[in-house]
Parts: sequence; C-alpha cells; structure tokens
Amino acid sequence: MVSGGKKLQLGVLVSGRGSNLKAIIDASETGTINAVVAIVISDVADARALELARRQGIEAVFVDPRLHATGAEFDATVVDLLRKREVELVCLAGFMRLLSPHFIREYRNRIMNVHPALLPAFAGLHAQRQAIRYGAKVSGCTVHFVDEGVDTGPIIMQAVVPVLDEDSEETFSARILTYEHRIYARAIQLFAEGRLEIRGRRVLCHGTDTLQQYEKQAWGAINP
Ligand code: GRF
Repeated sequence: MVSGGKKLQLGVLVSGRGSNLKAIIDASETGTINAVVAIVISDVADARALELARRQGIEAVFVDPRLHATGAEFDATVVDLLRKREVELVCLAGFMRLLSPHFIREYRNRIMNVHPALLPAFAGLHAQRQAIRYGAKVSGCTVHFVDEGVDTGPIIMQAVVPVLDEDSEETFSARILTYEHRIYARAIQLFAEGRLEIRGRRVLCHGTDTLQQYEKQAWGAINP
C-alpha cells in the first residue's frame, strides 16, 4: 500500500489479451500504485483488454484505424482522448502500432512500454522466440520510456528470467509475463512518486531504498 495524495491518471493502450492492463488495474485497486486507469484505448475492436476494462467499469474506447487516413491521424484522435481525460502517463500494454513523432512529442518522457526481453537484445516482435532460438541462457523483460525508435527508449527497469532447456515459447513467455506485471507496476509507482529522472539514455531512480527494493523484487527472486 502506498500513501494517498492525488492519483496519477493513466491512459493504457492495448491491442490484445490485456494481462498487463489487468495487472495495472489490480495494482491501482489494491493501492500498490498511486495511480488510476482513466481510459483504455485499443486499435482492435474485439481486443480482450477492452472487454476486461469495461467489466471493471473503466472507460474503454475502440479507435478504428480504418477511419483514419494515416497513422498520424489515428494518433491525433488518441492524443485528443488522452488529453480530454487529463492523462499524465501513457502505458503501452501490448499495443501493436508504432507511435507517430507527434504523439511522442505530445507525451515526451511520459509514455512507457513493456517489452518481453532484456533490451537492447531481441527488440521487435516475438522476442521470447528470438531469445530461445538464439540460444540465450537468460532473457527477461524491460520497462522503458518510448522514443521515436522501436524498443529503443531509455530503460527504467528490467527483470532477468533464465531460459530452461525444456522451455517452449509458451512456457518461457508465461514465466516472463509474471515479471512484466511486477516491474510495470513498480515503474509506474516510481513515476507517480516523481523519482525517475531521465539523463541522456539513463533513467536514474532517486530515493535510497530503491536499489535494495529493486534488487529484491527484480533480481533476488530469480537469481540464486
Ligand atoms: C507482452 O508480452 C508485452 O511484453 C508485449 O506484448 C505482450 C502483451 O501482453 N509488449 P498482454 O496483452 O499485456 O497480456
């Protein structure tokens, strides 16, 4: 449980299943994060994540890409919705579109994404499959700020997950996912507390107990 004060307003962008969205909503409801999901937006009409949000009583909007001539126009509609709900932090959670430079400018350093690998390794699609095929012994997940590139923004937090000999893409992805949920919520809370500072490519985390806590949560649990 974290202390009160005004809750950080989140906008979550989704395209599919929505397990990270669910983790964020749960963390918000239990008070693990001092934040609230103000709106969920999807580019996929029947995304499970939209349904999930609606069941929780959260505004969930489908923005139809086919009604927009360009990606930039689509993004302008999304930015407009986010602004109207006074969203302060945009969380990409399985959102399968690249953001336009306009979107990134509008929310500069206020867009986060979670990626299922230890960036900069295995960027792009099917990161878990890439790691297994490459023969990596560890991979994991990364929460990072979003910039104009694909999975290139400053890294906020990472968790390491070993690749087991018997892993399939499915079993490995499922294990990584549990860590995605944890570090995403943690990164959001650090942002809410105003403890993250971007300095060049590095994200510094202010507060003396952060490292200990981070090591315990993101490393200690999985590294002997
Ligand atoms: C996650 O693996 C995330 O890392 C990637 O897309 C997937 C989304 O899963 N960016 P979910 O919709 O949050 O369950």
